[in-house]
Amino acid sequence: MALTKKLHIKTYGCQMNVYDSGRMADVLAPLGYTQTDAPDDADMVILNTCHIREKAAEKVYSELGRLNLLKRRRQKEGGDVVLAVAGCVAQAEGEEVLRRAPYVDMVFGPQAYHTLPEMVARISRASGAQLNTDFPSEIKFDHLPEPTRASGAVDGASAFLTVQEGCDRFCAFCVVPYTRGAEYSRPPAAVLAEAQHLRDLGAREVTLLGQNVNSYHGAADDGSEWRLGRLIAEIAEHTGIERIRYTTSYPADMDDELIAAHGRIEQLMPFLHLPVQSGSDRVLKAMNRRHGADDYRRLVERLRTARTDIALSSDFIVGFPGETDSDFEATLALVRDVSFVQAYSFKYSPRPGTPAAELDGQIEEKLKEQRLARLQDLLNTQQRDFNETCVGRTMDVLLDRPGRLPGQMVGRSPYMQPVHASVPENMMGQIARLTIEAGHANSLAGRILCP
Ligand code: 5AD
Ligand code: SF4
Repeated sequence: MALTKKLHIKTYGCQMNVYDSGRMADVLAPLGYTQTDAPDDADMVILNTCHIREKAAEKVYSELGRLNLLKRRRQKEGGDVVLAVAGCVAQAEGEEVLRRAPYVDMVFGPQAYHTLPEMVARISRASGAQLNTDFPSEIKFDHLPEPTRASGAVDGASAFLTVQEGCDRFCAFCVVPYTRGAEYSRPPAAVLAEAQHLRDLGAREVTLLGQNVNSYHGAADDGSEWRLGRLIAEIAEHTGIERIRYTTSYPADMDDELIAAHGRIEQLMPFLHLPVQSGSDRVLKAMNRRHGADDYRRLVERLRTARTDIALSSDFIVGFPGETDSDFEATLALVRDVSFVQAYSFKYSPRPGTPAAELDGQIEEKLKEQRLARLQDLLNTQQRDFNETCVGRTMDVLLDRPGRLPGQMVGRSPYMQPVHASVPENMMGQIARLTIEAGHANSLAGRILCP
């Protein structure tokens, strides 16, 4: 059956969703689906959704409203477009999706996309909307085809590789343990084989993904358990991948082996996204985080001892229930002490089904906004300061996207900063040595040393 059909996938949320969207395209390719950027041309539209904050979930329903118009128009013309909702909104509120958007054809959670061909077949037999929100991750990974370039598995010269899924930490604000389920680590052999395969497809950089990636504990064939430090060391040694990153990490799961890896493994990039959420011990406790603010400070010191130039990024939540002015000041103090090169910060958003949504002391929106603005001011200043200190330095930049201006390309510095530079066209996908000439709020500008 070589009939080609067009598939449009719209991805919301985290890098894990970006990876999952690529794998969905891989699963559907044998059925004749090729990807299109335009939903209007598509025979199937998949919204790969995010449920982490309320805003993210609501966006999905407004997009579905628009897609319903497209579906009706198609049906009037005697055709159809298959509408699917995937990802964490599907997992968390599958029934609700079908209630609010009954025209949707398929709703499936993150652990079910390997069953897409079967769901598509059922729909074509017109047996009504398909709902699949089962959980076991190990089954999914066993049933997925190898990633391909066509699915976007390797974007430029950079690729994502999921090594771990789910989370058992149950932070009081977070939906992930409910939407992604219990922790599961893929076996090291499968990860190494996929890394090698990505390298063969042209990847020079791989980002290892997991909701709680540094809790990785994969069962090796010889019965031993590999933690993330070992996994990174083996990828570095055996696959020819030149740059390795990993995200997202939980502070209490940074073990000695992983910290040491930052000092020892050249391919491991000197950048770490290490969400702390708050700088107040009282709030951290209420959040059910298993570390205090000083534990985080000490951890940063150890990381900086292992790798002096390591650049840190973080996530913050302001206005968690019961957060006082002095709790918030403690967050600002932590930010000043640590200094981050980049960060994401959010107003607390109560998520149905999580313990924090039920807590007394919910903070009013206006106060959350004020705190967020103050925190972001400080974080933005730190980011700009860091970018400015980079001027005059020489950095190896992996050029992986065309820039906005003709002749320009954009790449990533070792510290994850986007770097713009004018370079010859054949440098796409190469690691170029650049002199940094300007540092802006969110990016750098560089000049090539030896074109
Ligand atoms: N409200 C606000 N921010 C949240 N995050 C997760 N859950 C919530 C919530 N309920 C933020 C955290 C996390 C990031 C991915 O999203 O900072 O690290
Ligand atoms: Fe959510 Fe991360 Fe906490 Fe897990 S460790 S519950 S993913 S915030």
